[in-house]
Amino acid sequence: MATVTFDKATRIYPGGTKPAVDQLDIAIEDGEFLVLVGPSGCGKSTSLRMLAGLEDVNGGAIRIGDRDVTHLPPKDRDIAMVFQNYALYPHMTVADNMGFALKIAGVNKADIRKKVEEAAKILDLSEYLDRKPKALSGGQRQRVAMGRAIVREPQVFLMDEPLSNLDAKLRVSTRTQIASLQRRLGITTVYVTHDQVEAMTMGDRVAVLKDGLLQQVDSPRNMYDKPANLFVAGFIGSPAMNLIEVPITDGGVKFGNSVVPVNREALKAASDKGDKTVTVGVRPEHFDVQTEGSGAGLSKDAPAGLPVTVNVVEETGADAFIFGTIEIGGETKDLVIRGNSRAVPAKGEVLHVVPRAGEGHVFATSTGERLSD
Ligand SMILES: Nc1ncnc2c1ncn2[C@@H]1O[C@H](COP(=O)(O)OP(=O)(O)OP(=O)(O)O)[C@@H](O)[C@H]1O
Ligand SMILES: [Mg+2]
Repeated sequence: MATVTFDKATRIYPGGTKPAVDQLDIAIEDGEFLVLVGPSGCGKSTSLRMLAGLEDVNGGAIRIGDRDVTHLPPKDRDIAMVFQNYALYPHMTVADNMGFALKIAGVNKADIRKKVEEAAKILDLSEYLDRKPKALSGGQRQRVAMGRAIVREPQVFLMDEPLSNLDAKLRVSTRTQIASLQRRLGITTVYVTHDQVEAMTMGDRVAVLKDGLLQQVDSPRNMYDKPANLFVAGFIGSPAMNLIEVPITDGGVKFGNSVVPVNREALKAASDKGDKTVTVGVRPEHFDVQTEGSGAGLSKDAPAGLPVTVNVVEETGADAFIFGTIEIGGETKDLVIRGNSRAVPAKGEVLHVVPRAGEGHVFATSTGERLSD
């Protein structure tokens, strides 16, 4: 077991002008499950491949424990990698596939068999050891690929989208298995995915990359509650956080009829930069839908809050996501609200919503950085 450190690690591909990975700085703890996530082309696989030794490092360093591995060949790094396509040998049995690396390393047959059987037990593959990969389901093949990594007892597991060949349901169950297996084995793991739900559910911490630049590395909870910038705010969470540009006013930020409190210094910093607006973020579940007098005709006042015209309601069973539009600053904006699945509004209906106090996020429009606490 070991820590893993990316120390300003940079990769510039030959002929490239800007780095694919730009001064990546992450200190991964011993036994931690770290997920690298971000859109296609942001540098996830490149980061992992640099750690694996499959890609040159053009600046900075990579350490496993206190060993500087920056220029070591892959075989000397004590890592095991699980790829998207499991790359099992079709002519070998499951047992031979799992034990292959040990065989190459010259481990004796009896020891290989013992390790393979142990791994098979952990992965629930014992009854398949004599089968060929083609006689297995996708999920079972995926577990064989995991088994191949486990038998090597490496210091670090590296996984690059290992679930992307599985169907939606199997992905969900397999991601739980991998996460619990990793916790049981306690082996430091770096896991790459473009799926933010996978990242949030599996990782002890999540690192978000964009254009080769690390945006934030944090626990899933903090990432969700305090996204460091507009990019992370929009990327983490499904449906995405509502992000709406509004004018800066005295005492806070006005969002419809409600004022979202923002640290004065932060607002001043934004207006000092010449910004006339900030971007307010509210998650779909952080709106309260106002009801009009509960049908008893007692309400004399028009409901407070922002009028939202309902366009579409997506019901997932437990939730109902209401997709609507609002008028703000003379413009029409889309808004998504998590509503009550037992009282779904009709298309064309107008709801009045209020962002819940203390749940708003405020970002500088120009730089995207978080202004609110
Ligand atoms: N061998 C290569 N030569 C030149 N450029 C490359 C090479 N491999 C990747 N790149 C570029 O480096 C950037 C990062 O690629 P990388 O494969 O790390 O992205 P990724 O985050 O893994 O994306 P995806 O989610 O699509 O797998 C991209 O702009 C890509 O085009
Ligand atoms: Mg990739």
